[in-house]
Amino acid sequence: MARLAVNVDHVATLRQARELVAYPDPIAAAIIAELAGADGIVVHLREDRRHIQERDVRLLRDIVKTKLILEMASTPEMIGVALDIQPDLVTLVPEKRKELTTEGGLDLIVNENSVAETVDTLQSSGIPVSIFIDPDLDQIKLAHQINTTMIEIHTGTFCDAKTPLLKKQAFEKIVDSVKFASRLKIGINAGHGLCYNTIKKFKGLTEIDEFSIGHSIISRAVLVGMEKAVKEMLALIKEL
Ligand code: PXP
Repeated sequence: MARLAVNVDHVATLRQARELVAYPDPIAAAIIAELAGADGIVVHLREDRRHIQERDVRLLRDIVKTKLILEMASTPEMIGVALDIQPDLVTLVPEKRKELTTEGGLDLIVNENSVAETVDTLQSSGIPVSIFIDPDLDQIKLAHQINTTMIEIHTGTFCDAKTPLLKKQAFEKIVDSVKFASRLKIGINAGHGLCYNTIKKFKGLTEIDEFSIGHSIISRAVLVGMEKAVKEMLALIKEL
């Protein structure tokens, strides 16, 4: 069964919407998610600190019992934070200040050398690295050459596709990428935009090791509670 890593960034988004309050706390959300059965907790410490703060990552490092996954840009500042905090996995993502959320995978054709250096620095200090990339065979080949422990396949284009044809085409790219990465024996995570409906499409794609899901779970948690929201997603993943 694939694992579920729950991204709690958007608990912090709600907190930061009122700068003077200290709630809701992403730390509490992470504890409940783990108690509900989540296999890992994900946070993205962005350059602009729009949601998760360094205090959150440090506290999570202490309390997360499963696996702490730090999403970050490949920059000297963030490499310093990762080396200091020692998460269980770093996921390298592209970052633009104006984007609402991560808009696509890291382009390894453009950034191969700098990303390779970051992967090397982190992995030689004992932190495994995953690279968030689009479902594209050339990107996967480069990730393999860079020697990254894992890739995370960007599922956002599939999830956001507006027509059945576009959805079908986007999903075919995911399937081809997963099969290719599996032949290369790289660990395979998948995420972005996944919700309680789109996750069902992944039935039979058992090569995926872990799903990284945030917005849909936190949105549902606002209405039904964190424990129920996580358990409902876990039940769907179990069916895959
Ligand atoms: N994976 C990566 C690399 C991401 O950047 C994000 C968003 O922070 C997610 C997964 C989770 O996406 P969503 O919040 O849409 O589930």
